[in-house]
Amino acid sequence: MSLEEGESLDRIYEFAVQLGKDAGARLLTAATRMASGMERSAAKHKANAVDLVTETDKDIESFIKEKIAKTFPTHKFIGEESYSEGSSREYQIGDEPTWCIDPLDGTVNFCHLFPMFCVSIGFILRGKPTIGVIYAPMINQLFSACVGKGAWLNESQRLPLMREPIPELPKNAPGGCIFSCEFGKQRKDGPNSNFRKKIESFVSIASDKRETEKEGGMAHGVRCLGSAAMDLAYTALGAFDIWWEGGCWEWDVAAGICILQEAGGLVTTGTPPGNDLNIEISEVGLGSRMYLAIRPAGPSEEETGSEGQERVVKAIWKLVNTLDYPRQ
Ligand code: IPD
Repeated sequence: MSLEEGESLDRIYEFAVQLGKDAGARLLTAATRMASGMERSAAKHKANAVDLVTETDKDIESFIKEKIAKTFPTHKFIGEESYSEGSSREYQIGDEPTWCIDPLDGTVNFCHLFPMFCVSIGFILRGKPTIGVIYAPMINQLFSACVGKGAWLNESQRLPLMREPIPELPKNAPGGCIFSCEFGKQRKDGPNSNFRKKIESFVSIASDKRETEKEGGMAHGVRCLGSAAMDLAYTALGAFDIWWEGGCWEWDVAAGICILQEAGGLVTTGTPPGNDLNIEISEVGLGSRMYLAIRPAGPSEEETGSEGQERVVKAIWKLVNTLDYPRQ
C-alpha cells in the first residue's frame, strides 16, 4: 500500500524529525523532574524486575500516537506500550504505512539517569523501515535517516562520522573491533537458556585464542549501552563495528535499522540460518527478534566494503550460539 494523496516522504520525514525532538524534550523534562526529586518515576515491572515501564513511557507514547493520528489519520500505529498491554504477540506490520515506535528505549537507563535513553520513531512502508529518528535528549544526539537521503547526526553531520575515507573492517574481525551486545531482559539461567547462551557467545567473541578451548574472537572491546536503538545508532556512527542482540522487538530496532542502512551498514539475522555458511546474506526480518549489525565499511585491496561486512557476519555466526526467541 502506498501513501495517500498529498503525503510525501519528505513531509513525513520532516514531521518525524520534529516529533522526535518534541518527544525527546518531554523525556528530558521527565528526567529533570526525577533528578530534582520533584517526581519519582515509579517504575512498574512487566515480565520481571528488569523489564520496566514508567509513567513517562506511557505519557510519551500517548503524545506520539495522538500527533500521528492527527496528522496522518490513515496510518497504522504500533508502540511498545500499547502492544505490551494487548494479548497478541503476533507480528503486525504489513504493507500499509506504519509507525513503529518506542517512546523510551533504555528505560532502565532512564530510571538511573544513565544518559543512553532515547525516543525511537520508525516509519515503515511496504514492510521496510523507510524513515528513522532516534533522539537521546540528555546528550542531545539526534540521529535521522530517510531512504535515499543518507543518515545524519543532529541534521548536519553525515554518518558514519569523522571517517574519511570509511575504513575497511579488520582482517581478523572481531579482532580489532568494538563489539556491542546486551544482557537483555531474560535473565533465567540454565544450560539451555538464552541468557547462558548469550554470555557464552560474549566470552567466545571477547576471549583470547590461547586461553580457551574454542577459538576466541579477541574483540578489542565489549560495550553494552542498554538501548538497542542507541546500539544501532552508534553502529551507524562507526563507533561500534559489530552489534549482536537477541530478544528485542521491532519498535526497538525499526528506526535504527533505517539509520544504519542509510549510513551504509548491514543488518541481518543474529544467528546463522543453517549449518552451511556458504550462503548469500539476507536482509533481516524486522520482527525476527535476533539481529546482527555491521558498521559501514570501506574497501580494501582484497574486498569491497560489503564483502568485508559479509565476512564479518560469517565470523560472528561461527562464534555465537543459536538463540531462540519465539514471539510470545
Ligand atoms: C530494551 C533495550 C535493551 C534491550 C531490550 C529492550 P526498553 O528496551 O533496548 O537494550 O536489550 O531487549 O527491550 O525496554 O528499554 O524500551
